[in-house]
Amino acid sequence: MVKLTYFGHAAFAIIGDNASILIDPWFKGNTLAAPLPDDFKADLILVTHGHYDHLGDAIELSQKFGSPILAVSELARYCLGLGAKAMVGHFGGTFKFDFGWVKFVPAWHSSSVGQKEFIYTGNPCGFLVHCGEKTIYHAGDTCLFSDMKLIGETAPIDVALLPIGDRVTMGMEDALRAVKLLQPKVVIPMHYNTWEAINQDPYKFKLMVEGDTPAKCIVLDPGQGHEL
Ligand code: NI
Ligand code: MN
Repeated sequence: MVKLTYFGHAAFAIIGDNASILIDPWFKGNTLAAPLPDDFKADLILVTHGHYDHLGDAIELSQKFGSPILAVSELARYCLGLGAKAMVGHFGGTFKFDFGWVKFVPAWHSSSVGQKEFIYTGNPCGFLVHCGEKTIYHAGDTCLFSDMKLIGETAPIDVALLPIGDRVTMGMEDALRAVKLLQPKVVIPMHYNTWEAINQDPYKFKLMVEGDTPAKCIVLDPGQGHEL
């Protein structure tokens, strides 16, 4: 059994028999975030890009759990420089673990740390995570791109975590097109309603997905989970 928990924005935990994986763990500063349970221990932290709403608390959590951050070269080295554990990967690269594997896939966005002066943190990415015989795709922040078809062909996707907030990522129309390229069994929308600028009705997206594709769309509130 694999359990997916949504903490808000783009933050998820994947909990399998052999692993607890955090993705884009942003808690501090996100008033809508559900807190990380006290007994939670991350074995691995995946970070899609350097923006504060994704890198979030990753460095602190890596120090707390002693768990490595898996990120593209520049971002991983930035984390290492601040005392976190980190492993360097890049697009096309697959890391094998006891629980399964993690593959770096592209995302179309930017990646930097800072608000006035910017530290370049490499290319943004998405992740395919294979855990407990289930495959989960976290798209990161991205627009729609046709190579999502290739990502969907890598392994049958059980759950696709897709941004729908618009403005800085795909909106709902493009996320629907992404579902058609990826062909996942289940879609969970993310990266919406955190700020007014990305307010969306996820239940409208659910109607769009379920009316136009075979996929099921599950809307999670922060703190809610889904078992695969
Ligand atoms: Ni971003
Ligand atoms: Mn973002």
